[in-house]
Amino acid sequence: MQLIVGNWKMHGRLASVALVEALVRAGPIPGARLLVCPPATLVARFAETARQSHVGIGAQDCHAEPEGAFTGDIAAEMLADAGATHVIVGHSERRTGHGETDPVVHAKAAAAYRAGLTPIVCVGETLAEREAGATLAILGRQLEGSLPGAGPLVVAYEPVWAIGTGRTPTPAEVAEVHGFIAARVPAGTPVLYGGSVRPDNARALLAVPNVGGALVGGASLTPRDFLAIASAAPGSAP
Ligand code: PGA
Repeated sequence: MQLIVGNWKMHGRLASVALVEALVRAGPIPGARLLVCPPATLVARFAETARQSHVGIGAQDCHAEPEGAFTGDIAAEMLADAGATHVIVGHSERRTGHGETDPVVHAKAAAAYRAGLTPIVCVGETLAEREAGATLAILGRQLEGSLPGAGPLVVAYEPVWAIGTGRTPTPAEVAEVHGFIAARVPAGTPVLYGGSVRPDNARALLAVPNVGGALVGGASLTPRDFLAIASAAPGSAP
C-alpha cells in the first residue's frame, strides 16, 4: 500500500472543501492511501469532511513547542486537535524560505510525536549539490540531523530542483537515493518521492524499488490528477 500525499502549499479557501468531497466520493483506491495537507486554516474543516472516510488530513508545518508566546506559529498539538494525523516538516520551502536547519526540523518532528502525529520529514539536494556529486552526502547529513527517534515516520525525498519545475530525476537516480534512504530508516518506513509528480510520470516513479508513495504539490490541487497519480501506485491498476 503506497501513501499519496497532497501538499497544497499556500493554496485553498474554505470553498476548496469541494475538492476533498470529490476525493471522498471517488471511494478508496486499492493500493494507495490518500492524505491531503492543506494550509492550517483548512485542517479542521477538511478533517470534518473526511472523517470516517479513506482520506486522511495532515498539515504542512508545526512549531516545536506545545504552546507559548510564539506569534503566528501553530503547535503540533493544535493540528492534532483540529483533526490532522500527519505533519510535513523540513520541506525545502521551509528550509530555504524560513531558515529551518536540521536541528529545527528534528525538534519539529519530535513535537509531532509528542502530539501523536506522524511526521513526514523532507530531505533533498539542490541542483548545485547534485552536479557536484554531493547528493548522497547531503542526504545523509539531513537524515542524520533531522530524523527523530523511535516512532511512526514517513520520509520524503524531494530534490529541490525537481519541485515545481516539471523536471524529475531518472528512475535510476530515484532508485539510488531511495535505496540509500531505506538503509538509514527503520524497516517499514514509507519513503515518498516528491517533485513534479504528475499523472503521466507517476507510474514510472512509483514503480521504483523502495518508493513507498509520492508527495505531490501542484497536481494535488486537481482531484482528477491526484486520483490518477494514486491509481498509478503498484497494485492500484484495474
Ligand atoms: P510539485 O511540489 O509537485 O509541485 O513539484 C512538490 C512538493 O514541493 O511537495
